[in-house]
Amino acid sequence: MRPWKSSVKIATAALSLFVWTLSTWPGADAQDGDDVMPSDPYLAELYADTCMACHANPDSGAPMTGDVVEWEARLAQGEDVLLDHVIDGFKGMPPLGSCSDCSEQDFIDLIDFMATGG
Ligand code: HEC
Repeated sequence: MRPWKSSVKIATAALSLFVWTLSTWPGADAQDGDDVMPSDPYLAELYADTCMACHANPDSGAPMTGDVVEWEARLAQGEDVLLDHVIDGFKGMPPLGSCSDCSEQDFIDLIDFMATGG
């Protein structure tokens, strides 16, 4: 084997290890919710100002944005119950999710975004 060939191999191996490390790094996972934003700029602003503080923070006890499994159980209660919980507050969740400017439709859109992660 020519020397340059083995150094190409080593470089390739190092590169794939690097890519693997990046993709498995804690926080690179969309389930953590801290790097996902609604594509709609209006919704993104509401989300960033309010829901995100808890729903992208695993220590808050809130269901994480994009955690489809966790949200499935919540969605199973039905949209009306979820909306009531958002508007009135629910356990660690403050009334209106701290978003006094949000309309009912905004809440529905925000829940839909958080439950699917996009
Ligand atoms: C101060 C932290 C905080 C903020 C801000 C917040 N949430 Fe929550 N949210 C929580 C916590 C904690 C829970 C889990 C409550 C539980 O089940 O114990 C929760 C649960 C929920 C649920 C599920 C309720 C259920 O019946 O299971 C919905 C829907 C929700 N949040 C929507 C929102 C929306 C929309 C926003 C932004 C407008 C928001 N939250 C902002 C903390 C927060």
